[in-house]
Amino acid sequence: MKTIYTLSDLRDWKKKTPDIAPPIRLGVLGDPVAHSLSPEMQNAALQECGAALRYAPFQIAPNELETAIRLLVESDFIGLNLTVPHKIAALSFVDDVEERARKIGAINTIVFRDGHSLGWNTDGPGFERAIREEFSVDLRDLRVLLLGAGGGAGRALAYQCALENCERLVLVNRTFDKAQALARELAGYFSGPRVLGPAARLEAVPWEERSLQVQLARTDLVVNATTLGLRQSDRSPLPHALIAPHLMVYDILYKKTPTRLLAAAAETGARGANGLTMLLHQGAIAFELWFDRPAPLAAMRQALAGSE
Ligand code: ATR
Repeated sequence: MKTIYTLSDLRDWKKKTPDIAPPIRLGVLGDPVAHSLSPEMQNAALQECGAALRYAPFQIAPNELETAIRLLVESDFIGLNLTVPHKIAALSFVDDVEERARKIGAINTIVFRDGHSLGWNTDGPGFERAIREEFSVDLRDLRVLLLGAGGGAGRALAYQCALENCERLVLVNRTFDKAQALARELAGYFSGPRVLGPAARLEAVPWEERSLQVQLARTDLVVNATTLGLRQSDRSPLPHALIAPHLMVYDILYKKTPTRLLAAAAETGARGANGLTMLLHQGAIAFELWFDRPAPLAAMRQALAGSE
């Protein structure tokens, strides 16, 4: 069992952890965090590079996030990752935010240097590499329907689709206002004509079966960026009947047992993949930001394969 640390451990970090060697100087903050495979992956990377440091998971509630980040700076941490539900809130608790992450409005990586914290977002580029690896296609050639467009991860993925100038992007979110607001933000990226036919290149649509059915007929790639599926009891974000064999289905969640969404895709004959590839690539980019050197991708990939 890996040890999961809490805010109370952080309050007295150096006194509480003097015997841990190599010392923990990197970590992931989440709520929940136990499912995260970032520690396995990043520790394999650190070991491969001969860095005498370790990466640990921290169970941090939303109301503890600001204090946790401050305590981590004071404890000489090198950097952090952020997972559900901290990616948007964390933006307010760092000293500076890289330009693209500021636009996205969410960060998944923090770099600490000389007591200063800088927020980055590596989810989008990680996603783009994952889609190429899983489906041998480029995001820019696809018509994408994004479920969970209003969340921290969803916003990063939507921006990546926009920056890649993908053929078409449909934004879907339980809280519809957020999808609409994001569509307004991204409108400028989709002003050029790319697709033949009447369908708009960028749309926010309500999360209703009929609307989704119409949109899915004009979609190549469906992405789940919601947290639905994190718990075993969660329903699938898409009714089984809506999944057609022509679709590629990417679920950014990664679990030993396939999510209901991916199980339905497999049954229908649609191609599907889970978020392990995105985890790998966003983590590799984060590693490069912390250490300013190429990430040992093969070791990281092997660690993920072993932990499945
Ligand atoms: P993260 O930062 O990791 O993306 P988040 O910001 O908490 O996590 O985002 C969670 C996403 O999952 C949001 O898009 C959320 O929809 P809302 O914007 O309406 O909250 C979505 N989500 C969470 N639970 C959901 C559910 N039961 N049904 C549909 N969408 C859900």
